[in-house]
Amino acid sequence: MNKNKLVVVGVGHVGSYVLADAMKTGLFAEIGLIDIRENVAFGEALDQAQATALTYMNNVDVTSGGYEQCADADVIVIAAGPSVIPDPDNPTGEPDRTLLTKTNCAVIREVMAGIVRHTTEAIVILITNPLDTMVYIAENEFGYPEGRVFGTGTMLDSARLRKLIADTYDVDPKSVSGYMMGEHGSTAFPVLSHLTVGGLPFGEIDRYLAAKEDIRNPDTVKTRIVSSAYEVLNGKGWTNAGVAQAAITMAKAVLLDERSIYPASTTLRGEYGFDGDVALSMPCVIGREGILAKLPVDLNAWEKQKLADSAAFIKAAMRDAGT
Ligand code: LAC
Repeated sequence: MNKNKLVVVGVGHVGSYVLADAMKTGLFAEIGLIDIRENVAFGEALDQAQATALTYMNNVDVTSGGYEQCADADVIVIAAGPSVIPDPDNPTGEPDRTLLTKTNCAVIREVMAGIVRHTTEAIVILITNPLDTMVYIAENEFGYPEGRVFGTGTMLDSARLRKLIADTYDVDPKSVSGYMMGEHGSTAFPVLSHLTVGGLPFGEIDRYLAAKEDIRNPDTVKTRIVSSAYEVLNGKGWTNAGVAQAAITMAKAVLLDERSIYPASTTLRGEYGFDGDVALSMPCVIGREGILAKLPVDLNAWEKQKLADSAAFIKAAMRDAGT
């Protein structure tokens, strides 16, 4: 019987929020936790299990253990690995992105090896950064069926974009439809040519609503969205709430076969002229079998250039890390 089972691999700042969000959605009858810190996985599972006695909680069977929990999982969310690694030569400066990539490549390879020992059916949603590189490895090195492994990608960046536009025009973020594409990181870019507010093209909204600031320049918007992650990071030392909700939103689309269109990180196989050599975010239809279709939407000249820049950045970072 299909139990609607979620497995979360890595229950640190992000994974524990994925767990908490999943518990409250009522979507899952069973949640399994995996972490190299077995005591932490056990404690997180017990903490949530004890809360199922409370009124508003669902009666979810929460367990911890090994990868055998993946055998009957419907969705597996991977949040394992460190989110930042300080530069050993400059601990207070920019984190060491290459070291993070090397470290988390090893983590993702270990995690995926554990998963495929038990299933290639579950839909795997990656969060671990640098996300697009992790997706590329998970999708292309383990024989997993195409479309059943993808990453949260620019799902959170797109939420940040929609929030910025909504705040600018003082409307509900859910009335803003649009997305960021490319890398989940510094080279992500807004696709304003397809963004709408209340169904109105972005370029027309000023005819109906007053803007609190001028954000019609895509470079301005790009900078604001990329920096918004660092505003959270600098404030609390990490980010977790937004990306956890992004992952659960995608998991819901899978579990309920919603066929939602979300920006997901996936290996491009011919889209935009990239043929299997890079993973990045583009609009995808997401349902019970994972990515059901990709939408290689038309891009204007600025967007095309940013996509090329983003892909080049990701590939260079992978080369630098020797992945
Ligand atoms: C962020 C992390 C998840 O953008 O990369 O908040």
